[in-house]
This record gives sequence, C-alpha cells and structure tokens, in this order.
Amino acid sequence: MSDSAQRQGDAFENLLHEERRFPPSEEFAAQALAQPSLYEEARSRGTEFWADQARACLSWETDFTQTLDWSEAPFAKWFVGGKLNAAYNALDRHVEEGRGDRVAIHFEGEPGDTRSYTYAELTESVKKAANAFESLGVQKGDRVAVYLPMIPEAVITMLACARIGAVHSVVFGGFSADALRSRIDDAEAKLVVTADGTYRRGKPSALKPAVDAALEKEGSTITNVVVVRRNNEPVEWTEGRDVWWDDVVDTASSEHTAVAHDSEHPLFILYTSGTTGKPKGILHTTGGFLTQTAFTHKYTFDLRPETDVFWCTADIGWVTGHSYVTYAPLINGATQLMYEGTPDTPHQGRWWELIEKYKVSILYTAPTAIRTFMKWGRDIPKKYDLSSVRVLGSVGEPINPEAWMWYREIIGGGKAPIVDTWWQTETGAHMISPMPGVTSTKPGSAQVAVPGIAVDVVDEMGQSVPNGSGGYLVVREPWPSMLRGIWGDPERFKQTYWSRFDDMYFAGDGAKKDEDGDIWLLGRVDDVMNVSGHRLSTTEIESALVSHPSVAEAAVVGAKDETTGEAVVAFVILRGSAKDDDDIVTTLRNHVGKEIGPIAKPRNILVVPELPKTRSGKIMRRLLKDVAEGREVGDATTLADNTVMQQIAASLRK
Ligand code: WT7
Repeated sequence: MSDSAQRQGDAFENLLHEERRFPPSEEFAAQALAQPSLYEEARSRGTEFWADQARACLSWETDFTQTLDWSEAPFAKWFVGGKLNAAYNALDRHVEEGRGDRVAIHFEGEPGDTRSYTYAELTESVKKAANAFESLGVQKGDRVAVYLPMIPEAVITMLACARIGAVHSVVFGGFSADALRSRIDDAEAKLVVTADGTYRRGKPSALKPAVDAALEKEGSTITNVVVVRRNNEPVEWTEGRDVWWDDVVDTASSEHTAVAHDSEHPLFILYTSGTTGKPKGILHTTGGFLTQTAFTHKYTFDLRPETDVFWCTADIGWVTGHSYVTYAPLINGATQLMYEGTPDTPHQGRWWELIEKYKVSILYTAPTAIRTFMKWGRDIPKKYDLSSVRVLGSVGEPINPEAWMWYREIIGGGKAPIVDTWWQTETGAHMISPMPGVTSTKPGSAQVAVPGIAVDVVDEMGQSVPNGSGGYLVVREPWPSMLRGIWGDPERFKQTYWSRFDDMYFAGDGAKKDEDGDIWLLGRVDDVMNVSGHRLSTTEIESALVSHPSVAEAAVVGAKDETTGEAVVAFVILRGSAKDDDDIVTTLRNHVGKEIGPIAKPRNILVVPELPKTRSGKIMRRLLKDVAEGREVGDATTLADNTVMQQIAASLRK
C-alpha cells in the first residue's frame, strides 16, 4: 500500500473499533421496500437482476435483447437493442398514467420566491425547451453546455437535451470562465444555456459575464447562448448569438414527441478532476444510467413517491445533482424540493425551516454541511419541526462518527436510518450503502455493496484482503450506470481505471474491511483531494499556480480540515523578481479562482525556498502534508536533498 494510504489507514484504525450499532426499528424493517430477499435475488439472478430492474424502473419503447455485452471490455453495453427516451420516462409517462397533478418540483429561491411544477407542467416546459433548442439548430448527438444556478430551468434544460438526444455537459456555476471554455472546447458544444445570474447570501450574483468572458477568445464552437432571466441584473448582449430564454422557450410550441434513443445513446458528459491537470469528461449513456439511479433512489432511500418529499441538496453541477435531482426522482415519480441558495441566508435555520415547510421526509446531503450545522449549534434545528424526516442520506466523503451521531440525533430525531452512500461521478449511482430497513448501521461506515454490485478491497497484487485489513477499493463486475469512457480519450479511460488491476475497476479510494466484512472508506489514494465533498486535482491547482508569472514551482496537498474534510494547501517557490508578502498570497489565491473557480482557492499558500523531491524529481507530497497538518515530518530519507524539510520549516517560522 502507498504511504498515504497507509497513513490514512492508521488514522482510521480507531474507527474500526466503533462498537455502536443502529438496527432499523422493527416497524421500519417490516415495511421497508428493500428486504433481505433483495440481496438473495441479486445473487441468484446475477446479471439478469439488472434486466429485471431495467424493466421494472423504466418504460422501454423497444425491449432489449441482451442484458450486458462485455465483449469489448472495459467498454460496456447494457440493455443492448433497447430503445427509450429519458425525458419520456421522467415526465410524459407519469402524465399518461394519471400522475400529471402530482408536484414534481417545489422550488424555493434564495430570496424566498417559490414555484411548484406538477408533472404535467414540467412536461410542458420541457417540451417547449426541446422545441426552442431544436429551433436553434440543436440535434441529436450535439453537445449543450449548461451553466446555470439551482433553478428549475436547470432540470428543464437537461431533460430537454435528453429528449432531443443532445448530450448535456453541465458546468458547475462556481467554475470560472476559463474552466467553462476548456469544457466547451473539449466537448465541442454548440449551445450554452445560462442565466443572468442567481442570488448568493442575499445579493444578486452574476453568471452571464463568465460566459461572455469564456467566449471572448475566437474559435469557439458555440453558435448561441440562451439566457434565463433570474435576478434581472443588467447583462452585456451579443446580438445574433445571445437569446433570452423567455423569447425562445415561452413562445415555443408545447407539442413535442419524444423519440426513443438507443440504450447506449450518450446522455451526458460531466467533467471531473483526475490526477493530471486536464479534467476528464466522464461519459454516461441512457438505459444503464437511468436503471441504476432509479433503482438505488427507490431502495436506498425507501422511496414512497405518493407520500415522500425528497430533498437532495447537491447542485446540478455535480453528479449527485444529475443522478438524484434531475433523473432518479423524476423517473420514480417523486416530489422533490429544490433550493437555490446558501444554508445561512437569511438565517442559519433556513434548511430546517424548509424541511418544516415542505414536510421533507428524505434528506440527502454531505458531511461538510452537517459539520457546519454542528458548529452553528443544535439550538438552531431544534427550533423547527423536523418530525417529517424518516430517512437521512450522506454522500461525498467519509462521514466522521461524531457528525453521523449528530445527524441521527438532531435531524433524524434518533430514529431515521442514515444511509452513507459511496459512489463517484464515474459510477453514476450508489455502489456501497446500507439498506435502511435491513442493515444495522455503524456510524462512519458505508458498509455493504448495493444489491447487484460487486465491490471488494484488494492489496497491491489485486488479492482480496481478509476482514480486518485495508487496501484499495475495486469493483469486480460491470454495473449498469458505469461510465462508458472519457470523452475523446479512450486510452486515458483504460489507463486510469482499468490498468492498475486485471479485470477490475480501480476507484482511486483506499478502504478497509472490518471484522464483519463491512467497508470503511479511507479517502483517495491518488492526487485527488476532496474539499467539501467536491473533487479537486492537486495537479490542476499546481498548474494554475505555475501559470502565474510570479511562481516558479508549486506543490499542492489536501490537508485535514474540520469543516470541509480536506482543504487546499499550496507550497510555492517564487521567481527571483517576485516579492514574498501578503499581497502575493492574495494575488495567487485570486489567480487560482480565476483559472479554476473559487472552490479551488487554496486555504493557505506557503512561500518556501525549496520543495521536497526524490532523486527522480517527484515531489514528496506526503512530507508537505505532514507540514500542512502540523505533524512531525515523516520519513524523509529518499529526498534528493535532505536539508529541504529544515529549510521549509525555517522559512515558515519567519
Ligand atoms: C469521491 C467521488 C458521489 C457523489 C459526490 C462525489 C468520495 C463519495 C463517499 C462516501 C466516503 C466518499 C470518494 C470518491 N466519496 N462518497 N459516502 N464515503 N467517501 O463525487 O466528485 O466523483 O467524488 O468522493 O473519495 O472516490 P465525486
């Protein structure tokens, strides 16, 4: 095992002595959708289990003839020969089957404005948007960049693309103009859908200027920019290119037939950070993605579409927002809440007020949010009626037992089961999670593979480790919502995920099996950081830093942070002419914000005279991590220059 995985393993050792167990109540267990038989069914049916789920969760225009074609591994084809339309499955069929009056989305804007869409209304909006995009020349297979805040138009846009068969590429609104442009270029997108802006912490916040800046440099593939009016702030306008959503969508026809697409037709691309400076365009296709997201949404959360109100707090800019805001809840005919703003606007009780107001029964959020609420104090949620809550979900990073217990007691009233769901942009849907009516939960552990999924923890050699040991997390069998590749880069796909071990998907996470065989996630074992549940690449931030004229060299590490899980800490060597003062730190932080986005801004930038390197020139990030976390520096014997760490220590004392 690598040094960092070993160290993480040691740090988590104490977790494995966690003795607390929380079995579901008899009442919950008796009525739960997922029963122990679901695991037996998955075992006995093998791959055909997923054929059953595909037919149960979705309506196919043409049934598939083969469940899985793995002959061109690692490029999978699921539900071969099947044809379906994602938007039809999410919308029209609910209307046709008499659920048109059910609320699909309750939207709450940050300023307190509200809108609700029934399934019938959302269907109509998506049909209009599909017609509007087609009138702008968007056709099946074209890519559409989506740069929108958390407003219903984001979901409408994604589904309108899916309806046409156009491939959406959502770029998180917190990413910079440069990041947006590189994603537009990589996917060769034809259209951008954006908004004038949104609201953040009680103030209007602009989005359109970033799109203008992204398209300033000649040679983009974009022909039109559709702009949703959200905050009514003035915007620059490029005639002939920019069009208002109101003008093209509101006036469009509400008749639009959803043509069925092949099960393997691309549904979306979503960029995520890897171990190099260049983000990867993760490609997902239709039938498999929809099957596993809908299946997991139903069973992991014990979803009752007639009565539950589901709230996934993730932004649509991340995979969680794709799988568990746009697709699964609508495929399953659920009612969901969508909230635009920050949790502390206008006050720190906003989320709990919303849960009380909409009677949210299933809450799905990230440990970083829970830790923030813990800091604000339990008195705040205690002021609200949270009795509607019956299932709680966690995602994005390991949840520490303390936060887990707080979540259970304060938000879940000591009885709602917590499902800690491990998955990735690449996996598309939950892969490891308790089943709320079956699993006796342990604070801090994601525990068991989802029925039908084969995960394992293996050693360096790819051998399954015994209970009580740690290693690398792998997936042994293909799964329906697996990524189908990296956009435009099949080699990188094979290299990144399929070359580390034979015939296994390498997730990039370290993990341990406890004495019961339950899985505990230990964080990334590669140069990927997890800040507030968002993935950032050390290399990407390093290249942003060295692109600044004052920086000669840079090394970035993820350091433990009480609230955000990890925080970005950068070590930089300045060029001879640059001055080491407070300004340079601010300048460099802003520079990273401009290159990538505010989320990537380092928490600390430390100016140092040297970086620790091996004789072959590889930066020893492990040693810098020790410094960043205030630990005694570990074994430095492989350093080319063994005085470097002393030089760094001396420079930081100055
Ligand atoms: C990485 C994937 C999955 C949607 C959000 C993040 C970490 C995710 C958990 C969890 C421990 C987790 C892993 C994974 N991660 N969920 N429940 N417990 N770690 O998606 O940006 O693709 O990041 O997030 O390290 O590899 P992502």
